[in-house]
Amino acid sequence: MSSRNNIILIGFMGVGKGSVAREVIKNSEYMAIDTDDLIESMENKRVKNIFEEDGESYFRKLELDVALWLESSIKNTLISTGGGFYKQKNLKKIATIILLDSPFEKIIKRIKNHPNAAKKLKKRPLLADLKKAEELYKERRPEYLALADIVIDVTKKSALECSNELLKKVKKYA
Ligand code: S3P
Repeated sequence: MSSRNNIILIGFMGVGKGSVAREVIKNSEYMAIDTDDLIESMENKRVKNIFEEDGESYFRKLELDVALWLESSIKNTLISTGGGFYKQKNLKKIATIILLDSPFEKIIKRIKNHPNAAKKLKKRPLLADLKKAEELYKERRPEYLALADIVIDVTKKSALECSNELLKKVKKYA
């Protein structure tokens, strides 16, 4: 367990970090924050519009600002992140790192089966081209695995099942 008693959820876009985070909050004492939500409030702009109007590198700079703030200021919190946030260098100092893992096809299927599928795809600029997104997945997955303290395979599990597994594994890890 990290000294600050934080846990951080990493994983590819659409894997279900938000849904699992909501269940963890309901079933534990953790406070919760989401790095994309923080960035949207800081900029008063949607992530999609930051990508379109300011560019991806500006977005990554905002992620760095958030990472530094998390390290200095946050305790006892579940932090859910955008799929690229794991690249921040100080993650280990912030929290115990939990990877939500699933094969690329299953992630895309999960998004497409969602009642709000169109909205979910539209808000994620890096999913606009699924071929490129698959390349990104292949590049990132080994890095996610290398970084994670705990891995949860979310395939065929409900958000509640994932949350239960997460809380059990975090307790053991502590
Ligand atoms: C990104 C993932 C998105 C968001 C941004 C970039 C990425 O978050 O941070 O569009 O680089 O994988 P989700 O993982 O919540 O979709």
